[in-house]
Amino acid sequence: MKTMKRRPGMVMAGLATGLLLAAGGAGAQGAKVKVGFMLPYTGTYAALGNAIENGFRLYVQEQGGKLGGRELEYFKVDDESEPAKATDNVNKLVKRDQVDVLVGTVHSGVALGMAKVARETKTLMINPNAGADAVTGAMCAPNIFRTSFSNWQPGYAMGKVMAEKGHKRAVTLTWKYAAGDESVGGFREGFEAGGGKVQKDLTVPFPNVEFQALLTEIASLKPDAVYVFFAGGGAVKFVKDYAAAGLNKTIPLYGAGFLTDGTLEAQGDAAQGLLTTLHYADGLTNAKEKTFRAGYMAAYKAEPDVYAMQGYDAGQLLGAGLAAVKGDVKNQAPLIAAMEKATIDSPRGPFTMSKAHNPVQDIYLRKVEGKQNKVVNVAIKGLADPARGCKM
Ligand code: BEZ
Repeated sequence: MKTMKRRPGMVMAGLATGLLLAAGGAGAQGAKVKVGFMLPYTGTYAALGNAIENGFRLYVQEQGGKLGGRELEYFKVDDESEPAKATDNVNKLVKRDQVDVLVGTVHSGVALGMAKVARETKTLMINPNAGADAVTGAMCAPNIFRTSFSNWQPGYAMGKVMAEKGHKRAVTLTWKYAAGDESVGGFREGFEAGGGKVQKDLTVPFPNVEFQALLTEIASLKPDAVYVFFAGGGAVKFVKDYAAAGLNKTIPLYGAGFLTDGTLEAQGDAAQGLLTTLHYADGLTNAKEKTFRAGYMAAYKAEPDVYAMQGYDAGQLLGAGLAAVKGDVKNQAPLIAAMEKATIDSPRGPFTMSKAHNPVQDIYLRKVEGKQNKVVNVAIKGLADPARGCKM
């Protein structure tokens, strides 16, 4: 290390600089932590984006509006679930608004663009939904965390459940993009390991909801069961169309839990009895779930769903990191270390982070009863994503 010879007067100047730095440091401590929400506020996933933001804000509110002793300042970009706009949108937050933390997003294709920029700029990113396997797989990075799931996780669990139910031949159907492809990939792995066979994979472009031709094809293929990935507005339409075609009477429908989460009000009778797998359910009895549900109801006059819960946990995870550095968000190494070793007391039940920064969590089997996704049992306990391609 190079050393400088001290000249007379340097000590005083150095002292003054030290004081200024200390004052600057204190100023930085006093400044608000800038949080950039990049979420869909329009389109088929709009309700999901809003629920995530609500959940995150609820946690911060419960902490008196501060994390690690610092207030937060929010910036927002509507990503429209549009992968082609992802780079421009995330740069609005990173370059224009200079946020300290990115919170987003919902759509896997958009998340991949977001994660690329977060990696390159080393901006802390907490992904509160999008399941793109690569985010905590090949693209994993010290500054990228997820509080939700990998697309593989609920799919794999449902493959196992359906095989255990004795189904031998299944047809899959999903939107054609990363989330659907990977959800079906996880499903195939679990189903085939249990002795099942995927008869045919059907897809429809995102966010199309013209399902009629596909339903006709399913009827003629006559599989033992159908596995689907749909979410938000598309999930509402699909479940209604499946029932209207009468298929719910002859070919059992299963899905990753997004099929019936946050959607039951609109799906009504068409969803009754559906079985899905997810890392959250109605009827969990842990203490955090009770306070979270009551707090969310009081704040927003609505029941929370999985998206609200994931947003809440993104707040909790950031809170764990900021507490460790007393709000000094620029002090990334200890902040990341604290996030890595945090046990999040989540409404889903406690979870920890895998080495690749994805939750290691229980996946529940749920059954729709009225307006609830009632927990049936734990389909797989402490399921970790395989994090294929992650070199961290
Ligand atoms: C996704 O694109 O990763 C996704 C979107 C909605 C629900 C679940 C996953």
